[in-house]
Amino acid sequence: MSVPMDAPLTVLGIESSCDETAAAVVRLDSAGPRVLSDVVLGQAAQHAPYKGVVPEIAARAHVEGVDAVIGAAMRDAGLGYADLDAVAATAGPGLIGGVMVGLLAGKAIALAHDKPLLAVNHLEAHALSPRLAEGGAQFPYLLLLASGGHCQFIAVLGVGDYRRLGSTIDDALGEAFDKVAKLLDLGFPGGPLVEQAAKSGDPKRFALPRPLAGRDGCDFSFAGLKTACAREIERLGAPSAQDRSDLCASFQAAVLDILEDRTERAMRLFDPLWGARGRLVAAGGVAANQAIRGLLENLAERNGYDFVAPPMRWCTDNAAMVALAGAERLRLGMVDGLDAPARPRWPLDEAAARLRPSHRPGRKGAKA
Ligand code: KG4
Ligand code: ZN
Repeated sequence: MSVPMDAPLTVLGIESSCDETAAAVVRLDSAGPRVLSDVVLGQAAQHAPYKGVVPEIAARAHVEGVDAVIGAAMRDAGLGYADLDAVAATAGPGLIGGVMVGLLAGKAIALAHDKPLLAVNHLEAHALSPRLAEGGAQFPYLLLLASGGHCQFIAVLGVGDYRRLGSTIDDALGEAFDKVAKLLDLGFPGGPLVEQAAKSGDPKRFALPRPLAGRDGCDFSFAGLKTACAREIERLGAPSAQDRSDLCASFQAAVLDILEDRTERAMRLFDPLWGARGRLVAAGGVAANQAIRGLLENLAERNGYDFVAPPMRWCTDNAAMVALAGAERLRLGMVDGLDAPARPRWPLDEAAARLRPSHRPGRKGAKA
């Protein structure tokens, strides 16, 4: 049963699929969503010595932090559990130990307080996150979702209605940023550090490949670019600070060229299918990158698109986007049972046929 459009819905969201333990309360009414609280407990310091996210450490940290984070979100919102209309928790895809922690916490609250549960797909939360922005993103829109685990173009037609237009055939874009940072010993998480280092570097010093640029469709490939960076670093031996900056700048320049080519092709797929003036939306951690945001903004303008990106704190993992996805689904009556499983893999458009079935997305080693 769906809820009347104008009835305000207040939903607690919980996020624990990677290395942030997060909880937030969002109220959705006819004027749009309002974030009443938004708490994120990061784990970067625990993972930094290993230069990457260690699943077992992440799961333990979620167990240790989840109660306090949920308590803080409820306190900041000035609400008790009885005031909630539902509880939403990320149920996948992600690191399964962490997903189970947040999902179980959500189930316990839903059961104890007799509230509906929404088992939210983390990718759907990212896909809807631009609707948290001032003015929101109206459906339909062309979404570039670029994070540590995913890189894809999705036509977002409505809540629960997603069509994948293209995706990476090997690595995610955030993964490539993290790998370059690791090879250069910049620290963790790598994306923001590569962006920072690139600011004082020469983007033309290293000739790096632009995989798949110029090809039909809008799939991505970053494995060759990553390997080319590794080879340059090997050749340098002990890179100086300037070498590091130059390599980061050259890597980011290659990424911008690839994104420019792929995004324009995604627009050409999106245009005839879903409307005259398009809307281009960026989400996921990589959308926090200022150079990438700038490029997308220019591309949108050049192609007669409007550009929307969530504020930075809602680009990287957070629970406001989970609460919003939950509220939007609740409004449509799409609630889940307490037996909803935690899912390490969970494609966003699993029910929808791919528009261009020439690649199987996300399979390492697939041919372009
Ligand atoms: O969405 P997110 O927080 O978590 C996942 O669901 O993966 O994205 C994290 C990813 C990491 O790979 C991180 O290095 C990347 O987003 N990232 C960035 C920037 N900020 C975060 N990549 C490039 N530039 C940034 N400023
Ligand atoms: Zn994410």
